[in-house]
Amino acid sequence: MDTPTEVSVPTADTPDLTDPRFWQLPAPARAAAFAELRRRPAPVYFGDRATGRGFHALVRHADVVEASRTPAVFRSGPGVTTPEPARWVRLLFGDSMVNLDDPRHAQLRRIVSRAFTPRLLGRVEEDVRRISAALVDAVERDRPEDFVGTVAAQLPFQVICTMMGIPEQPRRAILDLVDRNSENVGVARPLRRRLRVPGRGLAALARMQGIVAGIGRERRRRPAEDLISALVTADVEGRRLTGRELGAFFSLLLVAGVETTRNALAHGLHLLTVHPEQRALLLADLDGRLDGAVDEMVRHATPIVQFRRTVAVDHELGGPGGPLLRAGEKVALYYGSANRDETVFPDPEAFDITRTPNPHLGYGGGGPHYCLGAHLARQEMTALFRELFTRLPETRSVGEPVLVPSSFDHRVRSLRFTF
Ligand code: HEM
Repeated sequence: MDTPTEVSVPTADTPDLTDPRFWQLPAPARAAAFAELRRRPAPVYFGDRATGRGFHALVRHADVVEASRTPAVFRSGPGVTTPEPARWVRLLFGDSMVNLDDPRHAQLRRIVSRAFTPRLLGRVEEDVRRISAALVDAVERDRPEDFVGTVAAQLPFQVICTMMGIPEQPRRAILDLVDRNSENVGVARPLRRRLRVPGRGLAALARMQGIVAGIGRERRRRPAEDLISALVTADVEGRRLTGRELGAFFSLLLVAGVETTRNALAHGLHLLTVHPEQRALLLADLDGRLDGAVDEMVRHATPIVQFRRTVAVDHELGGPGGPLLRAGEKVALYYGSANRDETVFPDPEAFDITRTPNPHLGYGGGGPHYCLGAHLARQEMTALFRELFTRLPETRSVGEPVLVPSSFDHRVRSLRFTF
């Protein structure tokens, strides 16, 4: 029998991924640190392994794929974010699909997947185009300075609200809540702020869920042609979402679908600006190269830095003889590092819109939790850049994006732009 490889321990020069200051370092310094971690023979354990307070950092493409596609070993419950949602929050607001395992995950995913079938997304495509065109109209009319608040955040938010059938009136309040809720994930904060912000955030969340549950009740009585109607109406198996599940799903869609797409759009515009040769290549054949450009933006920017899994049974990573991960231990899947894995992506730091193949893990490493909105995100990004570069081909970012340091997402707070 093979003896498992020992996992690595941090040495004096190992960057500390648990230190918030690491996430404030400039991107090249963080990239160099992850490149160093990828060269190690085994994942590094950060924290105190004896007490289980810490995690194995999975930084290679193959390791992130293995953890994503072996859900019997790498469980999503009790949570994939750090800190995980408190038990009472989950009881009160319902469990989010992203934190569940089978059979409940499969059951919920089957129901909500109805909203993301190619046929329904075909219908949404027209909305995405119309909303993108209206946003570019507003840019021409109002001449805003910040790309994030006026364009990048608006598109995915308006698309999800339109899909769900949320009326215009509560949309502004809901968008503020999303910003407030997710700005704090993965960020170290002083205790006073930590206590204050969730208080406000939870009240806001309760209000938002109340709004959605109300629409759900209304649609159950009188179904319309929207997502909420599809979710609250029973299907052939007789399963439908309860009011609480509907609220939890809408919150997940907002956090998962708005923040990520907004950050991808902002990073995307900036990448095209600082790589003028790639921008010229794209504009020379927008139809032929836009799909590849959008995929490369997601690889290069990797909007979600990491999700976590919990090891259910002792497991040797990569097969017999591999590093032994023990039952109960946590692993963090570093998507951005996997997307820079030089054994998969030649010259990984280069932004190359013609990169083929491009098996990036920006939407996850495959398996049951693979991003439900990946197709929609691609639709949104291609529609917006097509509209922008067709009508305002001089659109460029100005200066550097203002980033929010976070170990969870690659968030852009604001990005000035000109057109
Ligand atoms: C560029 C934009 C996006 C990125 C980078 C992104 C990334 C991700 C990642 C990394 C995961 C976790 C995958 C895993 O654990 O294996 C995920 C899950 C998910 N995403 Fe996205 N996402 C994006 C856009 C969207 C959009 C537009 C929606 C919906 C409107 C969406 C809905 C979801 C949902 C519901 C899940 C949880 C799926 C499950 O647990 O079964 N995402 N996404």
